[in-house]
Amino acid sequence: MISIAIDGPSGAGKSTISRKAAEMFGFIYVDTGAIYRTIGLASKTHNVSLYNKKAVIEMLPKLKIELKYNDAGEQHMYLDGKDVSRDIRLPEVSMLASKVSAIPEVRAFLIDMQRDMAEKYDVIMDGRDIGTVILPNADLKIFLTADVSDRARRRYEELCAKGMDKPFGEVLAEMKQRDEQDTERAAAPLKPAEDAVMLDTSGNTLEQSVAEVCRLISDRTGKKSVNGHE
Ligand code: DC
Repeated sequence: MISIAIDGPSGAGKSTISRKAAEMFGFIYVDTGAIYRTIGLASKTHNVSLYNKKAVIEMLPKLKIELKYNDAGEQHMYLDGKDVSRDIRLPEVSMLASKVSAIPEVRAFLIDMQRDMAEKYDVIMDGRDIGTVILPNADLKIFLTADVSDRARRRYEELCAKGMDKPFGEVLAEMKQRDEQDTERAAAPLKPAEDAVMLDTSGNTLEQSVAEVCRLISDRTGKKSVNGHE
């Protein structure tokens, strides 16, 4: 099986780039942030305070978390039997996800689910610790970055497109707060693996970033993209 690990901060374009690259190579795209988001959402629906770490940990074995793919190859997250793929995208859930992901027991709870996917399928898996913790033997590790203002601008445009009204300054402040939480936590902090290829997407168009990632995958794996450019 081939595994490609793509890590980096929020808003660097990981998910869009990974999804498109996976499509081009016929690999499965695994969005691990969605799994943390599902736990963040669960803490809300189960009325568990994120400041009560013990309660969060006790909640874990009671949850039924499933990752499924529809016929179009899109990942859907299920929480206790309900498709929550839309709910987990709410900005409020981003912050909850970032908070629960700092709890080592939450991270340990999700390791097998992520590794199982890479054992069964050729994957492009994106997240924060894929190259460092989840798939240390990945065929290729890419660390995607971009300036924080670029990343906040992209997130702001995404929110506007979804009709969510939020001032740019707030989006930028939240992005900085999440960067700090994700980078400074003790458990699997966001950092590039030693053998990761660093890719800065600031100022790139989406197409340029996708082409760059596809080229890296082709060079490393010897695979040709099956759906279009290399
Ligand atoms: O990629 P995202 O914004 O959907 O991720 C949501 C949160 O989950 C993010 O703040 C950090 C956390 N996360 C993580 O700690 N490890 C991962 N592999 C993926 C996401």
